[in-house]
Amino acid sequence: MSKTYNIAVIPGDGTGPEVVAEAIKVLNAVAGKAGFRISLNYFDFGGERYLRTGETLPEGAIDELKKFDSIFLGAIGHPDVKPGILETGILLKIRFSLDQYINLRPVKLYPNVETPLKDKGPEHIDFVVIRENTGGIYTGHGGATRTGTSEEIATQLMVYDRRTVDRCLRYAFELKKKRNSLNKKYAEKPITLIHKRNVLTHCGDLWYRAFEEMGAKEYPELKRDYNHVDAANMWFVKNPEWFDVAVTENLFGDIITDLGAMIQGGLGVASGGNINPEGVSMFEPMGGSAPKYKGKNVINPMAAIGAAMMMLDSLGEAGSSRAVEAAMIGTMQKMKSQSAGHMGMTTTEVGDMVAKLVTG
Ligand code: IPM
Ligand code: MN
Repeated sequence: MSKTYNIAVIPGDGTGPEVVAEAIKVLNAVAGKAGFRISLNYFDFGGERYLRTGETLPEGAIDELKKFDSIFLGAIGHPDVKPGILETGILLKIRFSLDQYINLRPVKLYPNVETPLKDKGPEHIDFVVIRENTGGIYTGHGGATRTGTSEEIATQLMVYDRRTVDRCLRYAFELKKKRNSLNKKYAEKPITLIHKRNVLTHCGDLWYRAFEEMGAKEYPELKRDYNHVDAANMWFVKNPEWFDVAVTENLFGDIITDLGAMIQGGLGVASGGNINPEGVSMFEPMGGSAPKYKGKNVINPMAAIGAAMMMLDSLGEAGSSRAVEAAMIGTMQKMKSQSAGHMGMTTTEVGDMVAKLVTG
């Protein structure tokens, strides 16, 4: 009997369903070829459901999601819903409740994909950012008093504990070790901690000491580096080839991975994984719901297909994951651009081509 993976699919809002459909097309194609099965359960969480029912995630949804091998998400965000409701009620809620403490965001420029960086090519842009995904400012600690008066006060605290820092660092060091063994080019580069310890002297110090201690004691063979986050921004643009594995706290990671997405060719190609190495992970294209492109068959599904590739790897189907990447590369060679509306192909044509190349 062939192996079956049970996947929860949340197409979500805007162009989410369109890009998810293409990613699923590719998953089915590669499964057919490799001889495993993908069983899909669709959930209608998102803006439409919220407007209809007033509910972001219904009662029991989290327990339900915990039963799957993985979760695949399209996009969350609806023009008729106030910003913050769906993001916190669905996306962040799932990340936190399932303890997806790693946000893995590869920054990889593929051939024939345009980067805004002058004189940089695929040989320069190939690294991963590990964004801590459950702590920091995202925990919601803090509050507001005297709201609406001229003396109002608001705080939003960056909260970290040693366990949360350590488990994130461990994932980063292990990934660095793995990448070094795969490719000599990676092995020459350091693992980089990104923070702002010159100003955030409490949290920055915790991260820095934890990084140095774990690195020196358990991974002495790995080169370590440290960048302040503002400087890291500069180097992402000026010398992206310096990076291989970069690890950072939640908000900094949120910010620098949008920059990372741009230098790898834009949101049309940027994918991410919300990973609980001991539990259920969720994979998603990094771009939002892009309401203005909804239903036009012009959005780029490549980021969603890249998310499917990452999901395959996390499920233990590394060979199929690599096959999807090869098919993505082949398809990108034929595309005019990776921006919505300028691809020289429709959304469905991109998905068709990747699916065809993956089986061919
Ligand atoms: C991301 C997004 C989310 C985040 C928002 C939508 C809550 O920007 O996945 O990077 O801040 O994490
Ligand atoms: Mn973001």
